[in-house]
Amino acid sequence: MDNRLFFSATQRNRECIGDVLSRIIKKGSVLEIGSGSGEHGVAFQKRFPGIIWQTSDPELAHRKSISSWIEHEDLTKKMPQPLEIDVEKIPWKIPLRLAHSLQGIVAINMIHVAKWSCTEALFRESGKLLNKGQFLILYGPFKICNKHISESNYFFDNSLKMKNDHWGIKNLEEVCGESKKNGFSQEHVIRMPANNFSIIYRKVS
Ligand SMILES: C[S@@+](CC[C@H](N)C(=O)[O-])C[C@H]1O[C@@H](n2cnc3c(N)ncnc32)[C@H](O)[C@@H]1O
Repeated sequence: MDNRLFFSATQRNRECIGDVLSRIIKKGSVLEIGSGSGEHGVAFQKRFPGIIWQTSDPELAHRKSISSWIEHEDLTKKMPQPLEIDVEKIPWKIPLRLAHSLQGIVAINMIHVAKWSCTEALFRESGKLLNKGQFLILYGPFKICNKHISESNYFFDNSLKMKNDHWGIKNLEEVCGESKKNGFSQEHVIRMPANNFSIIYRKVS
């Protein structure tokens, strides 16, 4: 059955996110948290054939979509099936082969559609799984010094909060604070199209 979902933003941002990843990703496996439809996953697996892209999502409909995308793109021999990971449900159930080959963790447009405790859990668990030198990359909108960087982000933030009080665009300095608590340094803050950022965190201890 074709369970593919289509998230329109992934068409627009996959190329520029892929360009950021191409500077960082070298070998091994990458774990994606909150993979959504799976469109990013299959696009990055095809762009970086030397690695293994491991998708995950807590939503069953999303995991079914990811599996359908994997099949549709003829990647079943290369790409593992999505994992069920809710960042707050710990410990994350990670297969041994992934734990041994893991190079980094990526979360795209995830932390603003989740409560702050999910950001805390993401850093805490990533900090436990990753070794010195490995990366955690976040992509999405952020406030800087608690201010929105555009009017459209302000309206987007309000629309998120109307859907769920606990959602909303996070403040970069607070996210950075969380990274430090868990042994990461904020290595690069990259301005991206459409008022988004890619933030590269590196495990330093
Ligand atoms: C806005 S969608 C983004 C999906 C995809 N990364 C993209 O860019 O198209 C946010 C995703 O985060 C996932 N998510 C929400 N809360 C989560 C949590 N606690 N742990 C892991 N993923 C979560 C949702 O299921 C959803 O797939």
